[in-house]
Amino acid sequence: SVAPFAAAKAQDFPSRNVTMIVPFAAGGPTDTVARLIAESMSRSLGQQVVVENVGGAGGTRGAGQVAKAAPDGYTILLHHIGQATSATLYRKLPYNVLTDFEEVGLVTDVPMTMIGKSTLEPKDAAALIAYVKEKKDGVIYGNAGVGSASHLCGMLFMSAIGTPMTTVPYQGTGPAMNDLVGGQIDLMCDQTTNTTGQIKAGKVKAYGVTTPNRLKSLPDIPTFKEGALPGFEIAVWHGLYAPKGTPKVTIDKLNAALLTALQDPKVIARFADLGTEPVALERATPEVHEKFLAAEVAKWKPVIEQAGVFAD
Ligand code: MLT
Repeated sequence: SVAPFAAAKAQDFPSRNVTMIVPFAAGGPTDTVARLIAESMSRSLGQQVVVENVGGAGGTRGAGQVAKAAPDGYTILLHHIGQATSATLYRKLPYNVLTDFEEVGLVTDVPMTMIGKSTLEPKDAAALIAYVKEKKDGVIYGNAGVGSASHLCGMLFMSAIGTPMTTVPYQGTGPAMNDLVGGQIDLMCDQTTNTTGQIKAGKVKAYGVTTPNRLKSLPDIPTFKEGALPGFEIAVWHGLYAPKGTPKVTIDKLNAALLTALQDPKVIARFADLGTEPVALERATPEVHEKFLAAEVAKWKPVIEQAGVFAD
């Protein structure tokens, strides 16, 4: 049978490059997390972990590619909260979020900021809410497609204020940010790993942070909890996956390299500059990640069904 051969192959994993699929365009926040982790994992695995951006359909195109890849550890997925929300948002997914992957471990939780083009009229969150309620679909909101974190944040914001906006989907919030800075779109809610630099450079207007506490990296930006929209909260968790059936010995090697990356001073420092930090190491295990993903699918299902927003 093939079992002994596969077992022998797993023993010498990795003997060539590993591909880390990022299901969004290069230059976005998911890509930023992936490249930092991949660089450190390359060193500890002794083989290049090469990031490949596969955008489209809010992250489900890239995730689907990994679900169908050979279960040998040479194709892995770095994805975020969208892995959980897409299970409900897409009623005809070509894969099963909960059974077609092996979880390798959680990576980081990233806060989000609601940001506007620099010329957008409202000066603060309260004025922004009044503005959106008045302009409705005259406000152009950019996201990375149904299933992305920017989509989820926009959906929660529109539900909280009871007003729709016009949404424009991009292959990732890297390209979306270019249009926001250029003034082609009005508003976007995105992860601090993508927005911190632009906010500090004064290229966009920051209206609020979506986590309960203010950020050390952006201390002057109020949280929505402080006043403008108390119930509006979201943070974007990221996790690492392999296809279902990847041998445990291989998952363990990938997990060991992930744990090393999460303790890498360079990764920790860069994450801190970008408003985030690695998850506590006890959360970066396959078992915790698997349970957490199932809980997140269950958590977001009623929220998405209540909002009545589906991709297909
Ligand atoms: C998202 O909105 O899900 C991400 O920010 C997309 C990306 O990383 O480009």
